[in-house]
Amino acid sequence: MHQVLSSRPNPAKLIARPVPRLAGQARAPGDKSVSHRALMFGAMALGETTISGLLEGEDVLRTAAALQALGAQVAHEGATWRVRGFGVGGGQEPKDVLDLGNSGTAARLLLGILASHAFVSFVTGDPSLRSRPMQRVMDPLSRMGARFACRDGGRLPMAILGTDQMVPIEYRLPMASAQVKSCVLLAGLNTAGETTVIEPEATRDHTERMLRHFGADVRVATPESGGKRITVVGWPELAARDVAVPGDPSSAAFAVVAACIRPGSDVVVENVGVNPLRAGLYTTLREMGADIAFENSREVGGEPVADLHVKGSELRGVEVPAERAPTMIDEYPILSVAAACAEGTTRMLGLAELRAKESDRLSSVAAALAANGVKHDMGADSLVVHGAGGPPPGGGLVKTHLDHRIAMSFLVLGTGAREPVAIDDGSPIETSFPGFAELMNGLGAKIGAT
Ligand code: S3P
Repeated sequence: MHQVLSSRPNPAKLIARPVPRLAGQARAPGDKSVSHRALMFGAMALGETTISGLLEGEDVLRTAAALQALGAQVAHEGATWRVRGFGVGGGQEPKDVLDLGNSGTAARLLLGILASHAFVSFVTGDPSLRSRPMQRVMDPLSRMGARFACRDGGRLPMAILGTDQMVPIEYRLPMASAQVKSCVLLAGLNTAGETTVIEPEATRDHTERMLRHFGADVRVATPESGGKRITVVGWPELAARDVAVPGDPSSAAFAVVAACIRPGSDVVVENVGVNPLRAGLYTTLREMGADIAFENSREVGGEPVADLHVKGSELRGVEVPAERAPTMIDEYPILSVAAACAEGTTRMLGLAELRAKESDRLSSVAAALAANGVKHDMGADSLVVHGAGGPPPGGGLVKTHLDHRIAMSFLVLGTGAREPVAIDDGSPIETSFPGFAELMNGLGAKIGAT
């Protein structure tokens, strides 16, 4: 396996210079959410799972290393990854602390697996992950019978006192979170009986889709009151499967928005997952007047996929309703860049969850907009951006706060602003999008070291 990750290189300052337009074709990197799940479900299945298109970013490699520590065999030849699993409930006690780096998905989903094993395990992460709330997964897992010791405020590092005698629960999510939903469903795999999660607002459903692919009995009901009721039947025999990982719509978003904001651009981003529970940004951009066509629509690994053909457009501000937030929760930083270039005002509502991401993303975005002369108003859970109706001033230095999406979003702003935009640290980009600068430069961007 890749030699993962003891530490990242020192902070790498990067700068993006304005360019007239972008053109060409690029292929989106593998979907991060699907990649984590493909490795985890492969590890919980018996036999050898083969994965193609896996995102080889730091976050996913952390999951691979953690699963190896639990006893899965994970190897790759070129781009083909193979996982020989330990089966549901068959993990072994990790001999050391599991360091999950920057990855909230790795941490929250693995906690569901660790808590449903009868051993003690230890989890930590980088300074960003150690500041993120874990109470949201400790609550349901405690009700199922696990115990935890952690830092004040439910923060990592954490000791997990797991049990293989978990009690099935019915759990209503207090916030829209696919990570919490997936954590409970994963714990439910090694629990007798039926474990149910009720989500008031539907979130990404990769866990449900892929669990079925591996042979689990997953039932989804859509109550009249809205949302979803998802039940997994415990102790399934998960069997190894082949998984093809589609491209990541959250990563494709950077090239798409870069093309949208430069008139005359013509870009195709191939192989992009367009699961409706992930595609809210594309709906919003179209409402703003963006010219985005979904071409060559098909299915990859049980997920809808298309090639996105984008032409530079004159964007106008819109209101983005709170209900849409779960379908584009990682895309508000890049949407704020599109909004900064649009004519008029863009109102984004229902953003409370952004404060619990790799950074407090609402504050990070607001500070980055301010550094680049973009007028905006930040509320407790809202952001209003007053667009420049063309290139915004730019010229700022953006603090990325160990947040890959802040880093990439504001490099995109630099390609479409009047003055270059710098970021203090581009190294977090490796968590989700290795090769980001090369891909963007292949389309005509000018991103490099300062
Ligand atoms: C993810 C769910 C989302 C998202 C994250 C990936 C997942 O987090 O922000 O990047 O793979 O389940 P939340 O569940 O906290 O909303």
